[in-house]
Amino acid sequence: MGCGCFGELNWCRGSFKSGEPQTPGISTDNVRQFSYNSLRSATRDFHPSNRIGGGGYGVVHRGVLRDGTQVAIKSLSAESKQGSNEFLTEIRMISRIQHPNLVKLVGCCAEGSSRILVYEYLENNSLATSLLGSKSKHVFLDWPTRAVICVETATGLAFLHEEAEPHIVHRDIKASNILLDGNFHPKIGDFGLAKLFPDNVTHVSTRVAGTIGYLAPEYALLGQLTKKADVYSFGVLLLEIISGRSSSKAAFGEELLVLVEWAWKLREEGRLLDIVDPELTAYAEDEVIRFVKVALFCTQAVAHQRPSMKQVVEMLSKQVHLNEKALTEPGVYRASSSRRGSRGASSEETSSSQAEKGKHSMTALKIQSQYDDPDSMTQMSPR
Ligand SMILES: Nc1ncnc2c1ncn2[C@@H]1O[C@H](COP(=O)(O)OP(=O)(O)O)[C@@H](O)[C@H]1O
Ligand SMILES: [Mg+2]
Repeated sequence: MGCGCFGELNWCRGSFKSGEPQTPGISTDNVRQFSYNSLRSATRDFHPSNRIGGGGYGVVHRGVLRDGTQVAIKSLSAESKQGSNEFLTEIRMISRIQHPNLVKLVGCCAEGSSRILVYEYLENNSLATSLLGSKSKHVFLDWPTRAVICVETATGLAFLHEEAEPHIVHRDIKASNILLDGNFHPKIGDFGLAKLFPDNVTHVSTRVAGTIGYLAPEYALLGQLTKKADVYSFGVLLLEIISGRSSSKAAFGEELLVLVEWAWKLREEGRLLDIVDPELTAYAEDEVIRFVKVALFCTQAVAHQRPSMKQVVEMLSKQVHLNEKALTEPGVYRASSSRRGSRGASSEETSSSQAEKGKHSMTALKIQSQYDDPDSMTQMSPR
């Protein structure tokens, strides 16, 4: 395909050039470039009946390419700087890596003001629609299917954390970003917020972005991002898969506990199985209990006590002995205003809403009192 249609971006040389909010030297060598017209015809002019999703900064349509291949086409909001940033970030993150549990980027289009990403199409949409969605879209997933989803999602995340070079922190692990193929195998998608973690770096201080309900407290309150923030979000996701309830929608008991707190309470009361989705009638109790405990290990308040994703894969897939004596209380970040599902909550917003609410775990409060630099931006801290 020719390169004339890419305007200010010089794709032919395999890197972004000129006046874009650019990250220099992004290789696009292995990214196929589509013309706007070809994507317009693939989606019948972006017809609403082909719309399959929309979230943070874009709308996603199902499309069929001329050769018959089905694809998912994400049009990012071209006007917003966020949309442009997401576009560059996603290309940068996923064009280089491939794994069965990560969504594959087929190509992109940057013609005029359009910023469009083209992915492999996943027939069963996302966990948010299939498992947690409204009745019309809801699909019954039995326990063995859910267990596979948990283990394979963990495997994809472990790959990002430990095998991708440089390592990658996803920053937005949640049900709507876990896509499901025709056989309900999961693939992690939406790398718009992801960050690279070079080998000699242990944490990055950054403006907080992500989704409330999945945010690790030290990240929400201090902007301290490590791989352990993804581990926390993964723990919340595990509880959602087991319980069939969305962490951002459900509240439990008189105290209106969030899912993670509820799981902890049930464990203390020795009735962990009460958390299991009532739709699930047949399941291996031992296995489900182990999975809930793994979720509790992942959501511990103190980040360094959480396991690595590699350990999580082991804990989920083998009958390993979990040292429960080492398990400590979960940390929970709550915000009073419901910005759930939206991205980009800044640290300032998160800490002030904490103060308003005045009702959150002691651990979160302690973390907040140490909080000093709400706007520190993306500084790498060498080991
Ligand atoms: N490859 C895909 N196959 C099928 N559905 C998809 C695909 N990619 C995205 N979607 C749908 O679109 C939604 C939004 O996509 P996502 O990449 O998460 O964008 P956003 O940045 O808007 O959150 C997903 O939650 C899912 O419902
Ligand atoms: Mg998303």
